[in-house]
Amino acid sequence: MKKTIAVLEGDGIGPEIVAESIKALRRVETKFGHEFELVYAPFGAGAYFTDGSPFPEKTVEICDRADAIIKGPVGLAVDKMARIPQDMRPEIGAILPLRRRYDTFANYRPVRLPKSLASFSPLKEGVLGDGLDILMIRELVGGIYFGKKTEGPQTGMQYAEDECRYTDAQIRRVAVVAFEEARKRGEPLTNIHKANVLATSRFWCEVAEDVGKSYPDVEYRSMLVDNAAFQLVKNPTQFNGVVLLENMQGDILTDQAGGVLGSLGLMPSACIGPQKGYVEAAHGSAPDIADQNKANPYSMIGSVAFLLEKCMDLRRESDAVWNALFAVFEKGYRTAELAPQGYDRAKVLTTREFGDLVADMI
Ligand code: IPM
Ligand code: MN
Repeated sequence: MKKTIAVLEGDGIGPEIVAESIKALRRVETKFGHEFELVYAPFGAGAYFTDGSPFPEKTVEICDRADAIIKGPVGLAVDKMARIPQDMRPEIGAILPLRRRYDTFANYRPVRLPKSLASFSPLKEGVLGDGLDILMIRELVGGIYFGKKTEGPQTGMQYAEDECRYTDAQIRRVAVVAFEEARKRGEPLTNIHKANVLATSRFWCEVAEDVGKSYPDVEYRSMLVDNAAFQLVKNPTQFNGVVLLENMQGDILTDQAGGVLGSLGLMPSACIGPQKGYVEAAHGSAPDIADQNKANPYSMIGSVAFLLEKCMDLRRESDAVWNALFAVFEKGYRTAELAPQGYDRAKVLTTREFGDLVADMI
């Protein structure tokens, strides 16, 4: 298979962890006989300073031409961010426009922790049972993040407003993705919402349940988001299977799930639209540890596994990357943030060492 991939390295630890994910991709290329053409392009806070925009026109063109996109985390240290005007900050000026442009409505975030690695989690081992394998699916281009924003001071009024709207079509298409995944896995789907208060959540449930009528084989569960936050810590294995969330609630609970795993460095993410998708690490750019060769590249490498599966339909290749990631940990290797005090130093890996081992395992 021959594909063109746009590579947006991003800021902070972005370039380092993206480099390790590319190592894995190159190994897949040789082992399975594919050809990936990589085209690098500026994106993020650094791009604002070098190119005048966090999502420069030339990057847009490169992404338009690519079959898929690999994106590193974005954002610089607080003092540098303060010098960027609000609408040019990478969240508003780059990430949301990227999602909008490719209509990447389905955001997959896997929460995977085999029993053997339960010690990564801050939760007691007993709570993790036989391990976690949850696929969180978050709606990514609707709801309050994309609604009209009114800032009081600009209108002379002492208020601010964020509009939250969901249409039938927006809910339906992401619900279909979630039910399909649950069917493939033969596992339950838990729909999370705030239908006891929000109109958009009541509609969300109505449409999701309507979609569910076509999936009588999938066990459907419904849970309020505040309770879900509690349950995710108290008894997370009940979510093993697929979890469906709207945009903002999904943003919050996926980070919480990262906490349950023990590190956001363990949370890859794929954002998929009707024509193309991009993959990213679900965490930030950690400018405080940039260029020190100590960031955990797992999220970024796992994201490449997702790219292979969701953007190219290369299931075997994707599995090979996933298996390699877990195999490195199973051998007792740790990245710095996952190594407890006093852990065998010889087993604590740098960013590049981790990437090398994963490539070898592939
Ligand atoms: C994420 C991030 C983004 C989001 C931000 C950076 C806009 O937190 O991907 O989870 O809120 O979606
Ligand atoms: Mn987030």
